[in-house]
Amino acid sequence: MYIEPYATLSINTEIAFCLLVLRTILRITARAPRSLKGIRTLQPSKQFVHFTQLLRNLIASKNWKCLEGIDRRTLKMTHPIPEPFKWDNTFKVFYDHLDGEHQNLFASIFDLAENKNSQDALNKLIGVAKDHFDSEEVMMKQKDFHDHDNHKEAHDGFLDKVKGWKLPVNDDQVKYAKNWLVHHIKVTDFKYKDQLH
Ligand SMILES: [Fe+2]
Ligand SMILES: [Fe+2]
Repeated sequence: MYIEPYATLSINTEIAFCLLVLRTILRITARAPRSLKGIRTLQPSKQFVHFTQLLRNLIASKNWKCLEGIDRRTLKMTHPIPEPFKWDNTFKVFYDHLDGEHQNLFASIFDLAENKNSQDALNKLIGVAKDHFDSEEVMMKQKDFHDHDNHKEAHDGFLDKVKGWKLPVNDDQVKYAKNWLVHHIKVTDFKYKDQLH
């Protein structure tokens, strides 16, 4: 579906467009229920990413009351997976050492994807992830950050899963790791931006 750039819309057409957006959401819900049930291991379609990105921009720029009730979790699921799998500025949490560790995590997953039968690559990912998770958890604990427990649970879940992998890792496992990292940073880690100084 082609959507006219929202910045050019007048107030009246905004209302009409808002209704169109809501109708489209209902259609997407009917056609792609799996992607709306919190299954974060699934990579959404490009169209779905595009649509929800547009929707996020609309909400941020227009502050439309009628869109505030949309499931935030659904919107948060739709961050695209970089290809090739590399860290970029959109992943910045603005703590230099944590951004550096995130870059190492991207690199570790990239390496494992290229060397699916490498115990070293798998061990490295586990080690880099554990060290990074420890860094974040210590910082959150020191600041008594409200989301510490949920955040730690997410870290533990990832580590438990990856530690159980046998070689060679398969494409689904690589896809899971990529998707998890992207969404963990942009959804969960982003909550501590500006909160841990
Ligand atoms: Fe992180
Ligand atoms: Fe984290």
